[in-house]
Amino acid sequence: MKILVSGGAGYIGSHTCVELLDKGHDVVAIDNFSNSSPEVLNRIKTITGRDVVFYEGDVRDRNLLNKVFDEQKIDCVIHFAGLKAVGESCAKPLEYYDNNLYGTLVLLEVMRAHNCKKIVFSSSATVYGDPEVLPLTEECKTGGTTNPYGTSKYFQEIILTDLYKSDNNWTVVLLRYFNPVGAHPSGLIGEDPKGIPNNLTPFVAKVAIGELPQVNVFGNDYNTPDGTGVRDYIHVVDLAKGHVAAICGVKDNGVYVYNLGTGNGYSVLQVIDSFSKACGHNVPYKIVGRRDGDIAACYADCAKAKRELGWQADLTMDDMCSSLWNWQTKNPKGYNK
Ligand code: NAD
Ligand code: UFG
Repeated sequence: MKILVSGGAGYIGSHTCVELLDKGHDVVAIDNFSNSSPEVLNRIKTITGRDVVFYEGDVRDRNLLNKVFDEQKIDCVIHFAGLKAVGESCAKPLEYYDNNLYGTLVLLEVMRAHNCKKIVFSSSATVYGDPEVLPLTEECKTGGTTNPYGTSKYFQEIILTDLYKSDNNWTVVLLRYFNPVGAHPSGLIGEDPKGIPNNLTPFVAKVAIGELPQVNVFGNDYNTPDGTGVRDYIHVVDLAKGHVAAICGVKDNGVYVYNLGTGNGYSVLQVIDSFSKACGHNVPYKIVGRRDGDIAACYADCAKAKRELGWQADLTMDDMCSSLWNWQTKNPKGYNK
């Protein structure tokens, strides 16, 4: 299949390009490098021995997208392109809605004009809001999102579902990721956050390498076994494989929703402990106050993806931490070596 990957130079997109190329698919990618580096493309080539056909630009650029679809016979799109920082989205809601919602609308319009009607969308566990029950199944209530980033994901799910209702020739796959972490085992591609990381594991890695003094643990008074927040961390390579499973496993038209996680919850202190083992020394931390908007616990029921796609996450928390440490030590400055 020839697959267009929007946001293909990003963290999850680059790992997905590798898995698609390894499975023999042809990959066309588009990225504006707003949160990534062109060096990623060289690294993908080194890992796979294959080239991605790459277009630099924005998914909101209708002329560029028309050119891509005119030049390439695209069978299916995986849509990663978007902005993803929760805190920044509260400060810049218009920029987030413009990028995430308008970008998706332009992409869908151009797809429709070229009669390409299969899309896999990067959604998030954030669409469940503060969970009423755990583990979260795909049937759990969505909405009640607490920031523009999360709301943009929720709206995009609705837009895609309405599109299918209007035209049953579409195939829409909504993949709700839990917490993607880790890096490719080669240490050639990984997460390269700009500035001080917002997310736990890249922050822990920067403390471990000595760039930051300590991990601030946001609260130890949650209703969880050790009081710190619990999340379902999933290795980015397992997540990337989930996209290949979705592309191959969903054959009929319709709207399909899958949780992609491991089904296991780990607390902040358990993650720091695993990372300390991976890097060979204790990572210093300090308990501080809760972070606004955080929830106590969130983890997935992933039975549906296993049942219908034959996909399940195989890699462990130790694999996540050791691969992240491998990436961090080989690329202390990320892609800007
Ligand atoms: P990322 O920032 O590394 O990747 C996104 C890529 O899209 C970047 O390369 C960026 O340059 C590009 N991009 C952004 N806006 C664009 C635009 N308008 N046109 C073209 N390119 C554009 O993020 P990621 O972690 O790889 O996330 C990929 C997707 O998965 C995002 O939609 C994100 O919201 C979603 N997601 C991520 C997480 C997570 O924790 N990483 C969790 C749930 C969902
Ligand atoms: N945490 C700390 N210290 C830090 C960073 C995080 O204690 O410096 C804690 C948080 O309080 C939380 C846990 O670590 O309990 C995980 O936090 P992250 O910021 O890594 O991840 P979140 O679960 O808050 O959110 C992530 C993505 C969202 C996505 C969500 C579900 O950032 O975009 O997972 O997929 F929506």
